[in-house]
Amino acid sequence: MSHTPEDHTQDEPPAVRFTAATKAYGQVRAVDGIDLVLRPGERVALLGRNGAGKSTALGLLLGLDDPDTGSVHLFGGAPATAVQAGRVGAMLQDGRPIPRVTVRELVTFVSKTYPSPMPVDEALDLAGIREFGPRRADRLSGGQIQRVRFAIALVGNPELIVLDEPTAALDVEARRALWESTRRYAARGNTVLFSTHYLTEADENADRIVVIDRGRIVADGSSERLKRRAGGNLVSFDLAGRPTEGLGQLPGVSEAEVRGDRARLRTDDSDATVIALAELGAIRGLEVTRATLEDAFLQLTDPNGADSRDTGPDAATIDATALVKENV
Ligand SMILES: Nc1ncnc2c1ncn2[C@@H]1O[C@H](COP(=O)(O)OP(=O)(O)OP(=O)(O)O)[C@@H](O)[C@H]1O
Ligand SMILES: [Mg+2]
Repeated sequence: MSHTPEDHTQDEPPAVRFTAATKAYGQVRAVDGIDLVLRPGERVALLGRNGAGKSTALGLLLGLDDPDTGSVHLFGGAPATAVQAGRVGAMLQDGRPIPRVTVRELVTFVSKTYPSPMPVDEALDLAGIREFGPRRADRLSGGQIQRVRFAIALVGNPELIVLDEPTAALDVEARRALWESTRRYAARGNTVLFSTHYLTEADENADRIVVIDRGRIVADGSSERLKRRAGGNLVSFDLAGRPTEGLGQLPGVSEAEVRGDRARLRTDDSDATVIALAELGAIRGLEVTRATLEDAFLQLTDPNGADSRDTGPDAATIDATALVKENV
């Protein structure tokens, strides 16, 4: 059962709601107080370094584990209820072994466990594996198996799909096909939540990016906003003998650097910076380079995060929440 975008109102329970959820494994606080609301139709990327807590959070969301404290709701109810009702499809990071059946048999079998599945052919098409239908599922390549798992995630016709590093083993074409399928799926009003380490995938395929670091959300917003606030843009130009004082005070500029005859200004508002520069007189060789999502990501997350997390409450934490947290 899928909803069209017009179906949902603010009164409808969100697809996903984490409320102060925590989950610890011994001393490791894998999920350390997550608040998160996802609305129907959103495509959301979950980013974080290895061990940041992404898979643990997705496990809580799917009801595979219960939070120690706080709560997780799907469509206003318990995760297990939504999963049993076929409202959620998942592609997890640790794939289970696929038995000795054909791809079509396997997907058909899974579809029968759901109350209102999509036609098996449609799921095979969405995953780009129609031609593998008669092949044995345990004799496929890693990337082909990954696509079978994607078909399995979709076949129940869920309203929410959860994909933990879905493109990990996929070739370029299969990746593109997978993202195109998720785009079409979300366009029907469904919610897509995926984790990835490929930041360009998040940039291109998510309307919203949630960055998790050491079990906490450190940024939540559009890719544009993350880049602008955390990374800034770089405006560079030829000085052509012009004096350099005052450049650091131009609108938007947080940092000014002069190398040889070229000035580089880091700015969080390149439009304002360029207009102010233009008012100062002719500028030559102007170049505006955008901060990448990778710049933003590296600033937001702690390189020692996963390993230093079990040092207790005194461990240094990045508190970028106030800086970049933005509800969309
Ligand atoms: N079953 C478990 N038992 C003990 N510790 C665990 C368990 N599952 C996860 N952890 C720990 O919790 C932390 C978060 O792990 P998680 O798998 O959620 O990270 P992740 O963000 O998905 O990382 P990756 O990008 O490597 O997949 C890590 O420190 C991990 O070692
Ligand atoms: Mg993981």
